Amino acid sequence: MHLLKAGGAEIPAIGLGSFGLKDGLCSSIVTRAIEIGYRHVDTAAMYYNEAAIGDGIRAASVPRDSIFLTTKVWPTEIGASAMTQSTQASLKRLGLDYVDLLLIHWPNPDIDLAESIGALNRMRQHGLTRHIGVSNFTRPLLKQARALSEAPLICNQIEYHPQLDQSRMLEHLRADDMAFVSYCPLGRGETMKSAAVRLAAEAHGRTPAQIILRWHVQQPGVAAIPRTSNPARLEENFDIFDFELSQDEMAAISTMRSAGRRICDFEFSPAWDQD
Ligand SMILES: NC(=O)c1ccc[n+]([C@@H]2O[C@H](COP(=O)([O-])OP(=O)(O)OC[C@H]3O[C@@H](n4cnc5c(N)ncnc54)[C@H](OP(=O)(O)O)[C@@H]3O)[C@@H](O)[C@H]2O)c1
Repeated sequence: MHLLKAGGAEIPAIGLGSFGLKDGLCSSIVTRAIEIGYRHVDTAAMYYNEAAIGDGIRAASVPRDSIFLTTKVWPTEIGASAMTQSTQASLKRLGLDYVDLLLIHWPNPDIDLAESIGALNRMRQHGLTRHIGVSNFTRPLLKQARALSEAPLICNQIEYHPQLDQSRMLEHLRADDMAFVSYCPLGRGETMKSAAVRLAAEAHGRTPAQIILRWHVQQPGVAAIPRTSNPARLEENFDIFDFELSQDEMAAISTMRSAGRRICDFEFSPAWDQD
């Protein structure tokens, strides 16, 4: 298992995304993932699947402390008392005493950042989470958040796939000893069709999804959390640590960034960095 070191944490480079996975299917996918070797699972209060995630982890019968589990607090709940309630409710649904990483799911301009970063730190001080971080933060917001935080913010979980340029964000996070956790790492399937990906897949005898996931984890400081509801693809998405893409292949895949495709863009999104 490849571990990413950031802000004093060790994050397994491939995690299981779980958005849209529910109930029994969610639990069985989590259990199967852990049996295959995944040690990083991503959920959120807003995914309404934390109970199923907790069941899946328990059914896998590996020690709790060998799993790196992330959950997130929805942006309307990041005021001081709401964050405590949200985190306690997440832990109750998960059936666990702590998570490994607690993230602010999206920034919220209506709540003072100092209050929410202070609250996030308290969740860590009180042992509800081992580490803290953010998601969907722009570079200026990251700078402010970092200055306000006592404990290291270990990551920004943000959209990244070959059709979205995140080179400046990556530079920024590396300079701050923070991990880049790529969500929508497969571009929800779209990025797999490109010629650069297909050529590399043929050259290495791998699938397009494996090429894209390898492209992520081969960039220093990047972890990826692909989601699948398909057990065979679980194995495929994890089996990427025994080959390497050449610099030319990495560069050819990265040229797709000119598409500038952003999948998760909502009315409540921050004003994204423009460069
Ligand atoms: N922080 C945030 O705001 C945020 C936002 C979005 C996502 N996320 C997190 O990131 C995770 C991943 O993002 P995502 O689920 O949006 O997108 P994704 O992982 O890029 O794509 C998932 C899609 O790709 C398909 N897929 C998975 N493995 C495949 C393979 N080997 N071959 C072909 N198709 C494959 C899946 O279909 P099947 O299920 O049929 O395999 C699914 O339709 C989420 O589940 C969530 O945990 C976080």
